[in-house]
Amino acid sequence: MVASKGFYCLFLQLLLLSFVFDVANSQGLKVGFYRKTCPNAEAIVKKVVDQAMSVAPSLSGPLLRMHFHDCFVRGCEGSVLLNSSTQQAEKDAFPNLSLRGYQVIDRVKSALEKACPGVVSCSDILALVARDVVVAMKGPSWKVETGRRDGRVSNITEALTNLIPPTANITQLKSGFQQRGLSVKDLVVLSGGHTLGTSHCSSFSSRLYNFTGKGDTDPDLDPKYIAKLKNKCKQGDANSLVEMDPGSFKTFDESYYTLVGKRRGLFVSDAALLDDSETKAYVKLQATTHGSTFFEDFGVSMIKMGRIGVLTGSSGEIRKECALVN
Ligand code: HEM
Repeated sequence: MVASKGFYCLFLQLLLLSFVFDVANSQGLKVGFYRKTCPNAEAIVKKVVDQAMSVAPSLSGPLLRMHFHDCFVRGCEGSVLLNSSTQQAEKDAFPNLSLRGYQVIDRVKSALEKACPGVVSCSDILALVARDVVVAMKGPSWKVETGRRDGRVSNITEALTNLIPPTANITQLKSGFQQRGLSVKDLVVLSGGHTLGTSHCSSFSSRLYNFTGKGDTDPDLDPKYIAKLKNKCKQGDANSLVEMDPGSFKTFDESYYTLVGKRRGLFVSDAALLDDSETKAYVKLQATTHGSTFFEDFGVSMIKMGRIGVLTGSSGEIRKECALVN
């Protein structure tokens, strides 16, 4: 009885301490990292993003994707933003050639440098912008942990080997996520990011014209949808853009799961979510319950993704310009 009372007191004291001191998580990130050093940081990011979204909402997709591509190569440390110098950078790797919106990141950075020079990292900017574009497209909000610092290395080969291709099967997808500490649930939840944005025909045209090298189509893609897609992507057309979630590609909603459930997911990697019992059950659940838990789940998984391989404390640096090391 006495021992359990002692334990209870200790627990209460620890709980109190965690409120008083704003304890950082194991990676050294915390919500409100800039509260004292740059109190308006998050408001400044949101203002620039909202302005950009009001004139160019189609940048919401690439800006969300940019945070994902940053985190999956070397961790969330801003390496995707660096320009090539003596060595070719991630930016120049094929999967990153379709990223857009770097000018929005630069605009956010210069507004932050004006308000609090040398304080807010480019990797944190990517995480905050990803949240703010989702909110601007009527999606969920979540509390972004901050305190990341920026890396000094960016290498094209690392992007080519670490970014998962759209042809990945479920085994490859699960292992790619697992290697970065993300679960099967995170995989199916974060794939829901494909509710926003567009894809080049080249990312899925083999499913329409030459799936196994014999001029055939992908049997996992709805034949009626194949006919529609063939109208938009003629054979050999790599560059036309197709809405990934037709009709609502500028709205963050759960309709991605309805599409995947109807065998209308654009990539092999989207269709693959029907090849595992856990991911399939999630797709069906969100499709039949109008996304009952998707919004909440997405925030949770984005926070987890934002923790991959971060640099904190005295590692890395706070870049002055996001495309250049200091
Ligand atoms: C699971 C593995 C994933 C694969 C294989 C994959 C692959 C792709 C590909 C090939 C494109 C089209 C690029 C183009 O042709 O322009 C794309 C677009 C996109 N992806 Fe993913 N993706 C994955 C996961 C994610 C995640 C985790 C997110 C974010 C949470 C995300 C967000 C997006 C967005 C928003 C777009 C649209 C970009 C735009 O509008 O330009 N993807 N993805």
